[in-house]
Amino acid sequence: MSANIKRIVLTGASRGLGRAMAEGFLAAGHVLLGCARSAEAIAGLRKRFGPPHRFAVVDVSRDEEVRAWAAAVLAAGPAPDLLINNAAIINPNARLWDVPAKDFSRVTDVNIKGVANVLRHFVPAMVARRKGVIVNFSSYWGRSVAPEVAPYCATKWAIEGLTAALAEELPAGMAAVPLNPGVIDTDMLRSCFGESAGSYLGPTQWAQEAVPFILSLGPEHNGRQLTVPGQ
Ligand SMILES: NC(=O)c1ccc[n+]([C@@H]2O[C@H](COP(=O)([O-])OP(=O)(O)OC[C@H]3O[C@@H](n4cnc5c(N)ncnc54)[C@H](OP(=O)(O)O)[C@@H]3O)[C@@H](O)[C@H]2O)c1
Repeated sequence: MSANIKRIVLTGASRGLGRAMAEGFLAAGHVLLGCARSAEAIAGLRKRFGPPHRFAVVDVSRDEEVRAWAAAVLAAGPAPDLLINNAAIINPNARLWDVPAKDFSRVTDVNIKGVANVLRHFVPAMVARRKGVIVNFSSYWGRSVAPEVAPYCATKWAIEGLTAALAEELPAGMAAVPLNPGVIDTDMLRSCFGESAGSYLGPTQWAQEAVPFILSLGPEHNGRQLTVPGQ
């Protein structure tokens, strides 16, 4: 495999920013190893993009599913050059004291524990090569806050802290960064902004800046709080 072709693990490849990044990485000739929960979307991706690309139905909040996915990916080729924790959910808008316990748990299970699950099963193989970049999707709401999305804000602040600590644990030659993608018109933005989400950039346009930016990241970025340029 050419040194310029990266093996990219991407969670949440079925919709929104993940789907737009997937299309961008594939168009640039990289090998994509993606997952999401939607069996239909994953089947569609498999049909369009055969091996060496791989797409799996995985719920990142389920450690055993992530373990099996990582084992299959790592058995099929070397450790990823780029690991992108993009998958996340947001709570339906509500004041914090009105958020049911099960909704709060679900947001933390996916957005924090899901990221930890993916790191647990992929990072040891990357550390063994002392090579690779880890991008954990954060948000403006990982660095500021808004009412009615407190559970989501809490998880993105957690991602900032978790990633900063991870950056201190990695060997030289690797990087872990929290990345704020900006504000983009996706299902998630529609959930919290309603119709006004339509006045923001769409994922495909966003990916034109985001994909080359993410591909440009290297060890020199370790621990830096990043934002997609133009956002
Ligand atoms: N859009 C924005 O303006 C914005 C702003 C700041 C930060 N972000 C961050 O950017 C990332 C992408 O957001 P988005 O706007 O693209 O959201 P989105 O449109 O809701 O897409 C979320 C993606 O994550 C997947 N996903 C959700 N739960 C999952 C789980 N348990 N296991 C595996 N995959 C799961 C979804 O696929 P399935 O449903 O098929 O599983 C989907 O592919 C998130 O980390 C989000 O917090 C977005």
